[in-house]
Amino acid sequence: MIKYIGSKRALMPALLDVFDALGEARTVLDLFSGTSRVGHALKRRGHRVLANDHNAYAATLARCYVQADHEELAVVAAREIARLDALPGQPGYFTHTFCEESRFFRPENGARVDAIRDAIAALSAPPELEAVLLTSLMEAADRVDSTTGLQMAYLKQWARRAHNPLSLRLPELLPRAKAGKGEAHALDVLEAATKLEGDVAYLDPPYNQHKYLGNYHVWETLVRWDAPEYYGVACKRVDCRDRRSDFNSRPRHEAALEQLIERVRARTLVVSMSDEGYVTRATMERMLARRGEVVTLAVDYKRYVGAQIGIHAPSGEKVGEVGALRNREYIFVAGEGAERVRDLSAPRPKSADQERDPQTEIKWL
Ligand SMILES: C[S@@+](CC[C@H](N)C(=O)[O-])C[C@H]1O[C@@H](n2cnc3c(N)ncnc32)[C@H](O)[C@@H]1O
Repeated sequence: MIKYIGSKRALMPALLDVFDALGEARTVLDLFSGTSRVGHALKRRGHRVLANDHNAYAATLARCYVQADHEELAVVAAREIARLDALPGQPGYFTHTFCEESRFFRPENGARVDAIRDAIAALSAPPELEAVLLTSLMEAADRVDSTTGLQMAYLKQWARRAHNPLSLRLPELLPRAKAGKGEAHALDVLEAATKLEGDVAYLDPPYNQHKYLGNYHVWETLVRWDAPEYYGVACKRVDCRDRRSDFNSRPRHEAALEQLIERVRARTLVVSMSDEGYVTRATMERMLARRGEVVTLAVDYKRYVGAQIGIHAPSGEKVGEVGALRNREYIFVAGEGAERVRDLSAPRPKSADQERDPQTEIKWL
């Protein structure tokens, strides 16, 4: 999966414990789906996942990881990926913008991205197959990028991995879940909350001013393939200036969250939140209390790599501070079944398919 700030990799064991405690396979809404790491793990456990994220690249990842089913697409996708992977490079917009005007990728890899992306467009494939091919390309490009995991800047010296040749792989498609076919939506979350209904809703909103579109603008352009005008050293698409989320705004965050909590159509809410966000634990508990009993869990883990080494502009100048090296994340469970989570006195042994991180320490409060 792509490198993504706020990805729930380290939190997965704790989140899966929560979902296990909540019980039977059923419909789960993942309303800020990002990489779809959470939706993918829930689909694997048999849940029907309805994913949503307002950015096109994230909706594409969800179409691949929660909507597309292995039994329908794996064979045809593997064949297409092998064909695309053999294409010679052909420099175009992507090479010019992200390898010459900026230095996110080596030009030889940029030219392969151009050739493969043009070939995907020429296929006019059905949406799920197209999403699998685009995910394969996004992940291949991510493995040879020259960033710390954010696209607001690239490294002054080429990252070692940037010299590797771009190589496509088949994303890990899962068979259709026992509880039903997943769906991917690309709506603003307040609209998604009105349209979609499930048994449990998982909410993982942005918690500070850093906008996902600006931090992952290269993926948005790769997926939309709309050759946008761009600005600044990072060559961000011009619509980064206008496409906004209330959840990135300090004055609007709390009200947006409150509205969302009120609107979500699910009997149980699971919310994850960093303790460095706009909203305090007490405020979140107060907002969730209208949905019934609230149980709060805290998880400490090692921070993402950008925070550990600092973030640098191409000039070498530091543009992001080195923060605390450990993070605390809360998981709130509200509404029906919350009392079952309260019974978890300690993290239980993980099954083999669960992701682990030795750096993660789980505290059940
Ligand atoms: C913290 S990340 C989610 C990470 C995800 N759980 C994962 O593990 O990869 C928040 C996501 O919310 C999306 N987002 C932000 N504001 C939104 C809005 N108003 N409507 C829908 N999605 C939004 C962002 O694009 C981003 O992918």
